[in-house]
Amino acid sequence: GGTTRPTVAVRPHPRPVPAGRRRELLAAPPFGEVFTDHMVTARWSPEEGWHEAVLGPFAPLELSPAAVGLHYGQSVFEGFKAHRRSDDRAAVFRPWDHARRLNASARRMAAPPLPPELFVAAVEVLVRQDMDWVPEGDDRSLYLRPVLFADEPHLALRPARSYLFLLLAFPTGNFFGSESRAVTVAVSEEYVRATPGGTGAAKCGGNYAGSYLAQEEAAGRGADQVVWLDAVERRWVEELGGMNLFFVHGEGERAELVTPPLTGTILPGVTRDTLIALAGDLGMRVTEAPVSLDDWRDGCAAGRITEVFACGTAARVTSVGRVLGRDGEEWTVGDGAPGPVAGRLSALLASVHRGETADRHEWCHVV
Ligand code: COI
Repeated sequence: GGTTRPTVAVRPHPRPVPAGRRRELLAAPPFGEVFTDHMVTARWSPEEGWHEAVLGPFAPLELSPAAVGLHYGQSVFEGFKAHRRSDDRAAVFRPWDHARRLNASARRMAAPPLPPELFVAAVEVLVRQDMDWVPEGDDRSLYLRPVLFADEPHLALRPARSYLFLLLAFPTGNFFGSESRAVTVAVSEEYVRATPGGTGAAKCGGNYAGSYLAQEEAAGRGADQVVWLDAVERRWVEELGGMNLFFVHGEGERAELVTPPLTGTILPGVTRDTLIALAGDLGMRVTEAPVSLDDWRDGCAAGRITEVFACGTAARVTSVGRVLGRDGEEWTVGDGAPGPVAGRLSALLASVHRGETADRHEWCHVV
């Protein structure tokens, strides 16, 4: 049947942030602290499904203290970006894929899926309305943050019968301050992120809260991010606190990529998928294969592993320079500085975002 385009009602903010203040914020945007003038909301009920999609002022919510999402964590989210182009339009990166992943996460948490057409319509309306908030510059973008959570007030243990979808946006620079710095990572000795059959592949709020303690420990050891090992053998490298990992074997024309396979305990990163495709476009071999912590250490010592980098919407492509392992073991990756393969992929990704390289995979949604 024919699909009708979902409509989002537009109620602009009566007192948006003054242009001078906005320009100050865009000059040095902190991560996720200062939001744009607007947000989109939509509601779900069993009778009406998704309804009441509205763009309005970014403002506090009215929420029952008994909302299920607060108590039992029935809440999923996404993260993706819009990039300003030289023609002053914004290219949103892979919104349809983020809509699909949000629904995969919702399904795991027994929450209703949001029609991807509504998701993308919300993105278009918000980016259009807050276009002045999309920063200029290669390392700047507008971060889009949808969240879908249970707002029904009831504390019985069953999926809620009322949900709220919100789409927020904030201008951002680089997650780690600078992409020209290689980060240090630390293996968690005590904690695990995900177990087989658990929620590791879902982007649910609890996965992130569950990583804070280990992330704090890693920070206490002087690291930027925690490294998660698999829960069963405590041997296989899965991902970092909020991003996927790639290992580079060999150098120059011979460089190959290895990244852990999506076995259900790893977040299926859209940037991960993007880099697999871009590396393929560059003629590089990419293998999805398990990497053990011992392989990582020994590969670096023998020079087989020449680079390691993290990737995610927030982190983009960030080299890992040093690893704090278990039992006091530490090692350096390559010479400890950002490597050429990470640099090449990062530059290629940025040029796809900017529309300077042909978008052969049709990832960019220009608004
Ligand atoms: C992202 O890479 O954007 C994420 O969602 C991870 C984290 C910063 C929440």
